[in-house]
Amino acid sequence: MLVLGLETSCDETGVALYDSERGLLADALFSQIDLHRVYGGVVPELASRDHVKRMLPLIRQVLSEAGREATDIDAIAYTAGPGLVGALLVGASCAQALAFAWGVPAVGVHHMEGHLLAPMLEEQPPQFPFVALLVSGGHTQLVRVDGIGRYELLGESIDDAAGEAFDKTAKLMGLPYPGGPEIARLAEQGVAGRFKFPRPMTDRPGLEFSFSGLKTAALNAWQQCQQAGDLSEQTRCDIARGFQEAVVDTLTIKCQRALRQTGLSSLVIAGGVSANQALRQSLEQMLAGLKGQVFYARPRFCTDNGAMIAYAGCQRLLAGQHEGLAISVQARWPMDSLPPL
Ligand code: KG4
Ligand code: ZN
Repeated sequence: MLVLGLETSCDETGVALYDSERGLLADALFSQIDLHRVYGGVVPELASRDHVKRMLPLIRQVLSEAGREATDIDAIAYTAGPGLVGALLVGASCAQALAFAWGVPAVGVHHMEGHLLAPMLEEQPPQFPFVALLVSGGHTQLVRVDGIGRYELLGESIDDAAGEAFDKTAKLMGLPYPGGPEIARLAEQGVAGRFKFPRPMTDRPGLEFSFSGLKTAALNAWQQCQQAGDLSEQTRCDIARGFQEAVVDTLTIKCQRALRQTGLSSLVIAGGVSANQALRQSLEQMLAGLKGQVFYARPRFCTDNGAMIAYAGCQRLLAGQHEGLAISVQARWPMDSLPPL
């Protein structure tokens, strides 16, 4: 089955062609980062309008790269939520219109299920069951995964998501959007141990997260240095290092707890923050101690992309799922409400 995947939940237009027999044939992405950067974050209306402009050229591009025709496509998968409603509606309308015109089925995919399954596109995919740490700009969740659609939420953030904490902290320190990669870059030059920030909610049992206080701690440190006349680049790097270490440690401690609690030894990390090298290293070290294994997607499939939507949609289509002609999206959509395959 040849599936066209469309992702438009936020500020990336992602398109891909996935073949159930041959794997991923082509994928293309247009990132709107430059468009939103001047505003310090995503402007929803600008995002929707830009998706409209990029979608059809990207579809033509993946078809040409894969050497396929529109008539070869058997089904269309699109992100139906969670995300920005206007942006989601562009992908959903486009998918439904093309599906109607081409006489093929369309399926709405849950964005976080897409992220969660992205490591399945790699050479050594994880086997069920596993614990998944979903860390994106909008979500920080620990999930027990027994199969596609068989999700048990173990814990999540009670305030900011991990990616959001990276973005907000970066903004406070005058770094451009998106802040995650910027902080990661500065942290590489930072001195470990100069700034020690809290590891929120690790001193009590449970798998909940809270990252909003950490952002304030980083801001206080930054302001104190500024007041003391220390505006050096090195200080910014040292704070970035301290902040990243606090996030990475906190995530590692909670992942270890989730693995103990479930008795599982495979961990999948997915979503934009799973591209973070320090996080990967820390989790790999922790899993080596437990004789377990950590799985993640190649960096470009950690952040938003069409390949993960094409893959997740393909699995659901193969199981017989698809939508009617209605164009329906959901800004909020709990992943554990999805039907199992
Ligand atoms: O999954 P994603 O592309 O979009 C959402 O579904 O939210 O995640 C984007 C988030 C942003 O907050 C971004 O700053 C963060 O992932 N991010 C990173 C890194 N790359 C992206 N955070 C830390 N380190 C990175 N290398
Ligand atoms: Zn995402």
